[in-house]
Amino acid sequence: MHQNKNQNQLHVPVLLDDVVACLSPQKGDSYLDLTAGYGGHASAIISHTQNPDAATLVDRDENAIQELRTVFKSGTRIINDDFLTASQLLVDESQKFDMILADLGVSSPHLNLAERGFMFSESGPLDMRMDQRQLLTAEVIVNTYSTDAITDILKRYGEEPKAARIAQAIAAARPLTTTAELAALVAKIWPGYSRTHPATRTFQALRIAVNDELGLLERSLPLWIDLLAPGGRIAVISFHSLEDRVVKRFLADRAGERYDADLRLLTKRPISAGPTELVSNPRARSAKLRAAVKK
Ligand SMILES: C[S@@+](CC[C@H](N)C(=O)[O-])C[C@H]1O[C@@H](n2cnc3c(N)ncnc32)[C@H](O)[C@@H]1O
Repeated sequence: MHQNKNQNQLHVPVLLDDVVACLSPQKGDSYLDLTAGYGGHASAIISHTQNPDAATLVDRDENAIQELRTVFKSGTRIINDDFLTASQLLVDESQKFDMILADLGVSSPHLNLAERGFMFSESGPLDMRMDQRQLLTAEVIVNTYSTDAITDILKRYGEEPKAARIAQAIAAARPLTTTAELAALVAKIWPGYSRTHPATRTFQALRIAVNDELGLLERSLPLWIDLLAPGGRIAVISFHSLEDRVVKRFLADRAGERYDADLRLLTKRPISAGPTELVSNPRARSAKLRAAVKK
């Protein structure tokens, strides 16, 4: 399998200064990174805590895990699993952390390696799995799900106005095997010029469905608060409105008027990237950071 040796250098952590400001790392603090990726945020946080042995790094992607294992050699714990399973394990172990970070979604290597199947500018297999051990791929969805089920995925996770037409075209074109075939099929339904590729919504929807992104997030958030020590800080970065809505509602509820509110918001409004970061890291364009502290 082709693998870019410098793929870690291709992932620039987003909103790094803001994440550090929100998490406010203190010497000796413990840290849980639920989406450690290529370790950009983790390295910065651990350089403040100077306590790599009290850091736990999670990622569901084997390539990211290999990279984390070469960068973090000492007592740092590294878990190759989805963050729901990892969080449940840590809760069962009664672990508590001073800082928790979830930088959701895909990494630049996912988006830049055609073979991972997230990309439509260069053709690759219809894969889109973050965890390559998983059986469900985008190819399985487009070639075996009913037209109604595909329509629902495109509407719900892509907010695609022509969901039904695209789903019918997919069913008529089976079998589809490459990202280029799928992108071309959607482009025929959306002819004409637009700033973003017309298949962007379809690809986002399939990616969310393949990786159960919203389901895992909704079920994990309560566990993350259980894992915070009193006074502990949590920061979550989301990259699309569906994800941000889940995070916003959850934090607002737990920090709200209820008698058992156990959080205080550190960000009344989400933090977004400024113009300087946007020039050097276009992936930061849709990033929104929300943070809270446990009472
Ligand atoms: C935006 S990148 C994180 C980059 C990281 N903060 C850094 O500085 O390098 C997101 C990472 O989270 C992982 N990921 C996404 N959803 C996950 C989940 N549900 N469980 C575990 N890892 C997940 C992806 O595999 C990817 O490596």
